Amino acid sequence: MRMTEMLFTTLNPGTALTAEQLLANVDLGALAPAQRPYVVLNMVATADGRAAVAGRAGPIGDEADRQLFHQLRATADAVLMGARTASIERSQRLVRDPALRESRRRRGLKPDPVACIVSGRLNVAADIPLLQDNHSHVVIATGARGRLDGARAQVEYLRCASDLFELASVLGTLRSDYGVRSVVCEGGPTLNSTLFREGLIDELFLTVASKLAGGPDALTIVSGLPLAEIVELELVWSLRSGDDLFLRYRVASARANA
Ligand SMILES: NC(=O)c1ccc[n+]([C@@H]2O[C@H](COP(=O)([O-])OP(=O)(O)OC[C@H]3O[C@@H](n4cnc5c(N)ncnc54)[C@H](OP(=O)(O)O)[C@@H]3O)[C@@H](O)[C@H]2O)c1
Repeated sequence: MRMTEMLFTTLNPGTALTAEQLLANVDLGALAPAQRPYVVLNMVATADGRAAVAGRAGPIGDEADRQLFHQLRATADAVLMGARTASIERSQRLVRDPALRESRRRRGLKPDPVACIVSGRLNVAADIPLLQDNHSHVVIATGARGRLDGARAQVEYLRCASDLFELASVLGTLRSDYGVRSVVCEGGPTLNSTLFREGLIDELFLTVASKLAGGPDALTIVSGLPLAEIVELELVWSLRSGDDLFLRYRVASARANA
């Protein structure tokens, strides 16, 4: 049974659109620079800026966030995630709804995006549903030489020179060798930090959930080392669904040829 479609309105209620309608004309691949895919980061945070509650992102977003998350995935050639996020969130087949796979076909995309897991030390659990799904095509960028045992997905390895590497070459290879023109990055905060430091994120979709989590030293959407420079964002849209805010930003300093 399909869930009731949530509606997104402008802050002063006017037009109300479903997530599908909101993204219907968004063609991220058309925005790609020559050397790499166009990269959109999609994250959810509480009103006090927390990116995880008890170690998981799941309790933060509600149904509208879930629908936008899946629609955004459905627009992308590839989904990028860090090893800890893939393992902790127990990533599954990326597009499970047949209607969304059909909508990808209509957009001229493959039914399933490529899943790219960044795992410097190949520290990813082979038993996660994504790696056990024989429809899934997973590319693991890693500095390790080994392979994952027991995966049923089609798994390929992008071997990098060390276990901490720059993402520009990974994205460049996704573009040149896999024809990936658009990437939705789903975090986590450690991976996001590297991508921002390299100037590789073009847009940020941020859901601000109407919740407080509190707690000391809590994870925010970008962690790790401080960014070398403050990243300036330009607001593209601000929408609400219920009490949650859905912000879309363009990153002013994204580097097209990084
Ligand atoms: N609020 C949200 O929207 C959201 C979204 C996603 C995740 N989360 C939360 O964030 C947490 C997980 O995030 P995280 O920051 O701990 O981890 P993460 O970014 O998901 O993954 C970190 C791992 O990715 C690999 N990695 C990242 N950058 C690398 C680089 N430049 N070179 C080589 N490898 C690199 C490393 O793997 P190896 O260990 O193999 O070296 C590293 O340990 C979870 O609590 C999750 O629930 C929240």
